[in-house]
Amino acid sequence: MSLKIQVRTGKALEASAEVLAVVLPAFQLVKKKGKEALPAPLDEIDAAVDGALLALVKKEEFSAKKDQVLAFSPHGRLGFDRVLLCGTGDAALDTAAARTLAAKIARSAQGEKAKSLAIALPDSLLSELRPLAEGIELGAYRFTKYFTGDKAPKTALAAVSFVTGAKVSADARRAVELGAQIGAAVNVARDLSNEPPNVIYPESLADAAVAMAKANGLKATVLDFKEIKKRGMGLLQAVGQGSERKPCLVHLAYTPKNAKKRYVFVGKGVTFDTGGISIKPAAGMQEMKHDMSGAANIVGFMQAIAALKPDVEVHGIMPCAENMPDGTAYRPGDVWTSYEGKTVEIVNTDAEGRLILADAMTYAQKLEPDFLIDNATLTGACVVALGTTASAWYANGDEAAKEFGAAVTTSGEQMWRMPLLEELKDQLKSEVADLKNAGDRYGGSISAALFLREFIGSIKNWVHADIAGPAMADRTFRWDPKGGTGHGVLTFLALVENATRQDRE
Ligand code: BES
Ligand code: MN
Ligand code: ZN
Repeated sequence: MSLKIQVRTGKALEASAEVLAVVLPAFQLVKKKGKEALPAPLDEIDAAVDGALLALVKKEEFSAKKDQVLAFSPHGRLGFDRVLLCGTGDAALDTAAARTLAAKIARSAQGEKAKSLAIALPDSLLSELRPLAEGIELGAYRFTKYFTGDKAPKTALAAVSFVTGAKVSADARRAVELGAQIGAAVNVARDLSNEPPNVIYPESLADAAVAMAKANGLKATVLDFKEIKKRGMGLLQAVGQGSERKPCLVHLAYTPKNAKKRYVFVGKGVTFDTGGISIKPAAGMQEMKHDMSGAANIVGFMQAIAALKPDVEVHGIMPCAENMPDGTAYRPGDVWTSYEGKTVEIVNTDAEGRLILADAMTYAQKLEPDFLIDNATLTGACVVALGTTASAWYANGDEAAKEFGAAVTTSGEQMWRMPLLEELKDQLKSEVADLKNAGDRYGGSISAALFLREFIGSIKNWVHADIAGPAMADRTFRWDPKGGTGHGVLTFLALVENATRQDRE
């Protein structure tokens, strides 16, 4: 179901919608003709309900502090079923706070089973229309396609309008349109991640990526199992060969004319991670359907890139495999030769993500990127370190770190830099091959990042993002942009947009 989001000039009370949300900076009661009264625009609402709002505001001590919400039903006195007053406090909202606010409002409207929502905005928020529109899409998101009968939702939020007293410029309309497109693109990543593993396997994930590319004017190439073997992508082959559903590698490309920079993104696409022969415990294994969230992010991200049309060349690469135990599966003790040429001793078939990423990164190297970014649900250790609302990132140098850090600040996503501690490299030493694929129990997220660094060749700027926490958390109904599947996409977009700006300077 698609959601229509628009921005209009008008008065809050004249909007027609089931739910009206009025976004308000902190306020104090004013005196009118010697009596206590509500400031504009609440005074008009109060008049329409014969002073009931003023009484409620006083009783609830509502003063529009940040995150303070006052909900009431006007019982036929206004054209809305429900009105939400949403406080923003004294300080201006930044991009991330604006996005979260809109997400919360959309979430409540969806909860009220409303199909239409009007949001009256203060002028101070007109500069944040894009994150506000993103937030609407993210907040209204749910994954309900497999519910039938009574469980199936009967309504969905279908129309949202931002209402402002100011004149609406073409830029403002464009901001809302872009925000809606970007939010919808992140939801594409979430949908793919939430799909069950009997539906999303390497080939069907590739099909989804190719369909997205076709619909959005991007180039798409798929290397099938035969091609993977022919090219010598030994690590991707090893991980994927134990499954009936054979591995593949998807390459999506956005190649505008006159681009001065090339950014390449890689995402782990393990459509189900049983652990392979080093099999995982049964409890919670179903969560490992999300182990393709990195690749899902690539699909959503590339769809957003197609909408944004930056002056930077952008590539998305998805190594896809299902990690299964089988008579044809790779085993602990195996030694495999990577696409790059280095040999890897397998000590744990559950450390499969870094293997398929290594070969994909070698493929990426051939594109000679100015910046290489990989993202993956790579380690449980990362979830232990940061919990489920934040991702980790590692950079191979100061320049990459500065640029990526700035993108994180722009997006407002919770992504924290971690150190590439050189002393942990010893954990990856093998007696029989160039490297082994897993280190010790301690420092597991770092040793995984160090393994990947072995495959960046001479690439100057590289960032590895471990999105395991957010991707596994509360996956279906996670709406807060702080976490959930799709985490990272907004930061990747900010990275490319910042690069576009630098390009023009
Ligand atoms: N997909 C998992 C990582 C993971 C675990 C993500 C839990 C989210 C929640 C990955 O393939 C894996 O199994 N990693 C192992 C590595 C270990 C064997 C060195 C891990 O983290 O335990
Ligand atoms: Mn694993
Ligand atoms: Zn995995």
